[in-house]
Amino acid sequence: MLEFPAPGLFITGANGCGKTNLLEAVAYLSSGKSIRLKPDSELVRFGQEFFRLSGEVEYSGSRHTIEVACDTNHIKTISIDSVQIDRLSELYRGFKTVYSAPGDVEIVTGSPGERRRFFDLAIAQHDVTYLDYLRRYRQVLKQRNQLLKERFNRAEKEAWDNSFVEATLPVIEKRLSYLDEFRPVLREYYRDISGEKEELQVEYKFEIPTSSGEKFQESYLKAITTSEDREREQCRTLFGPHLADWDFLLDGKRVRSFASQGQNRSIAIALRLVQAEMVKRSTGESPVLMLDDVLAELDASRRSNILNMLHGQHQVLIAAPDIGDYRDFNLPVLNLTDKPERGSVL
Ligand SMILES: Nc1ncnc2c1ncn2[C@@H]1O[C@H](COP(=O)(O)OP(=O)(O)OP(=O)(O)O)[C@@H](O)[C@H]1O
Ligand SMILES: [Mg+2]
Repeated sequence: MLEFPAPGLFITGANGCGKTNLLEAVAYLSSGKSIRLKPDSELVRFGQEFFRLSGEVEYSGSRHTIEVACDTNHIKTISIDSVQIDRLSELYRGFKTVYSAPGDVEIVTGSPGERRRFFDLAIAQHDVTYLDYLRRYRQVLKQRNQLLKERFNRAEKEAWDNSFVEATLPVIEKRLSYLDEFRPVLREYYRDISGEKEELQVEYKFEIPTSSGEKFQESYLKAITTSEDREREQCRTLFGPHLADWDFLLDGKRVRSFASQGQNRSIAIALRLVQAEMVKRSTGESPVLMLDDVLAELDASRRSNILNMLHGQHQVLIAAPDIGDYRDFNLPVLNLTDKPERGSVL
């Protein structure tokens, strides 16, 4: 058993000693999935048949036990306080973690799918009803795509279009209201990271043009109707939240085209810090914030600005091979190269 002190822990040790593995175990208790997007079967120790994970965590003002057991045949059971849960979304209501890793730079520079994954998970963590809307939307989208592959009559098509637009609206509304709150915090955090030098903006890219006086719903239906031929040809829905994107602008210029590597990395870290702040705002409790060796490649002033911003904010778990800049942060240190014995308590 490992005990994580309230301010957090600095986890160090040589490459491959298991630092990310430990953070992954903590994050698994909040999402029921691998943060590295690995299938469960790859999380089972080589040569073994199953893995088990158990953690005592605090949320909603009290202590809870989350247990996971999973075998190589993908049979997984998760329980909270000894009661088995049916859906992973039940985990989202309780214990919350935010994991920041070098790979997050893909949220900034990668394909729109990376940004959708980031925002969809962040919004679900902030407001668990979003998951229900998203699930409904995906279901209707799948059925509509199926319809487009088949022969259909007008009435059928109209009915599907209407239910598609209906399923779309709450998803877009939630994305927009989350962004309204997210945007000013991101601007403030990024200014702090860059030392008041740079202004970061984020916008949700609408796929439907809304002309003045026209309701969004009407424009949406019109766009769908006029693109029917193309949709039939491609057998898929060409509008909707499953294709949407977010644009980052740094001092008014598109980040994806103009930002430097260090700027991209700073934005990726800022996004996670804002995600954590948003959880705190919606629940009144800080999530566990994990930083997996994210400060390498940033200049000294950005590194110290980020560390200063973390002070006293969340329980912070930092993983890095060398203590370097983190020395001043004064967290208890766990060196995994020293291989703590099973059952040791920090
Ligand atoms: N299914 C598995 N069973 C046993 N060992 C595994 C399994 N999957 C990965 N490993 C090993 O676990 C070790 C721990 O990896 P981890 O990514 O946690 O290291 P790390 O300390 O974060 O390293 P780095 O400093 O390079 O990021 C690696 O040596 C890896 O090869
Ligand atoms: Mg690692």
